[in-house]
Amino acid sequence: MRLAAAFPAVLSTLLAVFAPSNVFAANGFTGTCATWSGSGTTLQATCSAINGTQITSTLNLNNCFTNTQGILGFQVNGNFAGSCTKIAHNAGNNRHGDEAWLSALCSAGNGKQFDTAIATNTYIGNSNGVLAC
Ligand SMILES: *[C@@H]1O[C@H](CO)[C@@H](O)[C@H](O)[C@H]1NC(C)=O
Repeated sequence: MRLAAAFPAVLSTLLAVFAPSNVFAANGFTGTCATWSGSGTTLQATCSAINGTQITSTLNLNNCFTNTQGILGFQVNGNFAGSCTKIAHNAGNNRHGDEAWLSALCSAGNGKQFDTAIATNTYIGNSNGVLAC
């Protein structure tokens, strides 16, 4: 649980909402998605459905993240790309133990811009083979 320390309230809320009904919570996609890659605001991954089928899906990261004064954070329909450039999501492979990151250069609203990044595995999950946040 390397991410639990930073956001215990958010994590426990997510677990409370999603864990009872489904083994796949809305976090931890890298645990059940074999590979992932990014292109602009689109994250693509190949993930296991509950029946074991491998499904490739995409997720618009604007649906999940916002820019608050130069810092990326989780927010449904946050539309971070409206005020960020140099948007990139790394490619990875869970068999290699890779971590998943979204990075961008984001405006702080005062003329300054910050290089910022967020661990997408904290907020994106595998919902029966389909990426979801
Ligand atoms: C497995 O589940 C997925 C997602 O619900 C579905 O699309 C697929 O048809 C299922 N495959 C089999 C063999 O049941």
